[in-house]
Amino acid sequence: MAKTTVLTLKNKKTNNEKISMLTAYDYSLAGMVDEAGIDIILVGDSLGNVVLGYENTLAVTMDDMVHHTKAVVRAAKDTMVVGDLPFLSYHISIEEAVRNAGRIIQEGGAEAVKIEGGVERTDTIKAILDAQIPVMGHIGLTPQSVNKFGGFKVQGKDLETAKKLIDDAKALEEVGVFSIVLECVPTELAKKITKEVSVPTIGIGAGQYCDGQVLVINDMLGMSIGHIPKFVKKFTNLQPVILEGLKAYKREVEEGTFPGEEHGFTIKDEVLEKLY
Ligand code: KIV
Repeated sequence: MAKTTVLTLKNKKTNNEKISMLTAYDYSLAGMVDEAGIDIILVGDSLGNVVLGYENTLAVTMDDMVHHTKAVVRAAKDTMVVGDLPFLSYHISIEEAVRNAGRIIQEGGAEAVKIEGGVERTDTIKAILDAQIPVMGHIGLTPQSVNKFGGFKVQGKDLETAKKLIDDAKALEEVGVFSIVLECVPTELAKKITKEVSVPTIGIGAGQYCDGQVLVINDMLGMSIGHIPKFVKKFTNLQPVILEGLKAYKREVEEGTFPGEEHGFTIKDEVLEKLY
């Protein structure tokens, strides 16, 4: 398989082929995502919730993002890797935003960055694009704005906010993003946006008409702890499987049945004899 690039994604939209994207945060799972032939790995700042145990994504730092992006990139042979720009990494100044996007590419090894926001972020996105860094947009429920939204709520349900999302998508298209994540947006609104922009839309809680789909990997593998959003489908349920393995390990260690002889290493008798 050839490496997924921004051109692959553009062609997929033109040819009406769906795009698959999943998050990953470490080498082992990223390797499996790559082997499964998923088009894009997003090293999402959902890292904060899923891996680091925070309540939301606001505490995730640039160093966290670079560290995990590096691990994912080492495993990603054919999959395109996109690294999230975390909270405050692009809000203070355009210069800082470009520098931080550059870190995701230069230190992390990703091929592109993702940034939350619409019309209000176009100057920042333009500067990042000017540094030759491909940008994925993200509108709708943008988790870094959770406090402004007053919770994790579906966006664009009334006329004003729906129109704002269409304007945001068009502004992102115009500035030159290579794709747009639509998060928690009504299905018919996501369908309209997908029709009206030439760049691929990638939905999460945005229905079946987007050009692609993304899920948080721990959610879709049934490994997440706590609340699972309505839009998640568990494609497998690993939590009970893992728990069973962990309990079996504890039991066998306590009983003395693990490790067995086959798990040990030998030493020559003549060496052993000299020890006594
Ligand atoms: O951080 C993340 O995982 C994301 C996806 C939910 C799109 O931004």
